[in-house]
Amino acid sequence: MIDLGVNIDHVATLRQARRTYEPDPVWAAAEAQLGGADAITVHLREDRRHIVDRDVQLLRASVQVKLNLEMAATDEMIGIACQLKPEMVTLVPEGRHEVTTAGGLDVAGQKDRLMTVVRRLHDDGIYVSLFVDADLKQVAAAAHVKAQACEIHTGPYAHAFYESGRDIESGPAQAELGKIASAGAAIIERGMRFNAGHALNYHNVQPVAALPGVRELHIGHAIVSRAVFVGLRTAVREMKLLMREAAR
Ligand code: PXP
Repeated sequence: MIDLGVNIDHVATLRQARRTYEPDPVWAAAEAQLGGADAITVHLREDRRHIVDRDVQLLRASVQVKLNLEMAATDEMIGIACQLKPEMVTLVPEGRHEVTTAGGLDVAGQKDRLMTVVRRLHDDGIYVSLFVDADLKQVAAAAHVKAQACEIHTGPYAHAFYESGRDIESGPAQAELGKIASAGAAIIERGMRFNAGHALNYHNVQPVAALPGVRELHIGHAIVSRAVFVGLRTAVREMKLLMREAAR
């Protein structure tokens, strides 16, 4: 069964644009759950540009599905996660000037540090996923540091799909999809959970959802964008239907 984790950061982005109290990401989480979200994802950034500490506290108290906290592997964030105890943490690289997460985590380049971080989070009962590029070296490093899951960065695939006539059969889209499939097979072979996400939308999601063994997709921008027109509950329901149809 494939699950959908809904990233609601953009709801907070809209709120912060006016430095006010609406729209509330806590309301968004409730709507997403009513639409069938299997997890709620928020990225608490060092600069608190969208999600703020108050949000994660209220979400922790109210979300009834899995809460997935995306964060950088900094001491500050590890302290917050250990106190908050989300069901899952996804470790991501964080650049101050990036618009959104720009690439996967370089696990191979910081194995010792990440092994300590993963152990610290495990000790507090938190399931740890690492956001990595579709690169076998990074998957092997994720297994080495004892992550329980890898989320494969689907941005290059989404970009190739869009730039190649929005045609899934185009060479570039197929090549990127093939890399995700190979990374997914390596993740499963090493006993980790195969998740994927970033830049997935209503037009490109199905080939990823149909990959063997993929367990969870994390999607934010496309769902919140569609919600402007159809409402969040409907936008989540439509995405989940597409995913489940493809996975069948
Ligand atoms: N997965 C990770 C690790 C991310 O950082 C993000 C963006 O915050 C997403 C998934 C969702 O990406 P998008 O908003 O493009 O759907």
